[in-house]
Amino acid sequence: MTPIRDPGPSAQHPALGRPVVAIDVERADDVDAVRDVVARAFGPDADEVVEMLDGLRATAEAWIPGLSFVARLDDQPVGHVLLTRCWIETSRRRVDALMLTPLSVVPEHQGQGIGTALVAHALAVATAGGWPLVVLEGSPHFYGRRGFAAAEPLGFPSPSPEHIPAGAYQVALLPDHEPWMTGTLVSSPPVAALNDLPRF
Ligand SMILES: CC(C)(COP(=O)(O)OP(=O)(O)OC[C@H]1O[C@@H](n2cnc3c(N)ncnc32)[C@H](O)[C@@H]1OP(=O)(O)O)[C@@H](O)C(=O)NCCC(=O)NCCS
Repeated sequence: MTPIRDPGPSAQHPALGRPVVAIDVERADDVDAVRDVVARAFGPDADEVVEMLDGLRATAEAWIPGLSFVARLDDQPVGHVLLTRCWIETSRRRVDALMLTPLSVVPEHQGQGIGTALVAHALAVATAGGWPLVVLEGSPHFYGRRGFAAAEPLGFPSPSPEHIPAGAYQVALLPDHEPWMTGTLVSSPPVAALNDLPRF
């Protein structure tokens, strides 16, 4: 873990000795700040991720109000995570599910637990909302310790084996998941465009 920078006494947890973030739902006036957090987190790769984010906002089938979360330190946005709708084509019917992307923490606050807190928050809200599962493409090292597991062994074929490294397609099965809810991923167009995935 990288050394912890001191963002000021008000943000330090007295016991943990690291910043305490407040995570809440994106507000109407957060849109530009969220775009900035994503751009700073992804650096040289940011353009296509910001394009995906903007595209998701404009895609009614994918964007679900209340599932874009902002982490703040002293009321300043330093992290963000987004859940949008995707679908799993099961043997019974198409099931609504959630896609976690993007996840962003500004460089100066990475390695302080903020990304972990955002993922935990997103999964808690998805669970409370009765969603059956959350999928993503990302580092197995990072997400494997944060509620996700390789999706393919659990009955979710990789949506793009040629583009997604083995183990990177992951799923978090939530309490409302039922055993028959397995199958292939159908992504919203903005996510599909970035990851070269099957889309609706
Ligand atoms: C990946 C990211 C969201 C993690 O957030 P964070 O607040 O730095 O993470 P935390 O402090 O909660 O956790 C630190 C962990 O993240 C890992 N990590 C940090 N940056 C990482 C990266 N780019 N890829 C994979 N893992 C990363 C660390 O190795 C550490 O792992 P461990 O604790 O399991 O050993 C953040 O570094 C980031 O925004 N990176 C750039 C954008 C990005 O890659 N987003 C994820 C796309 S799937």
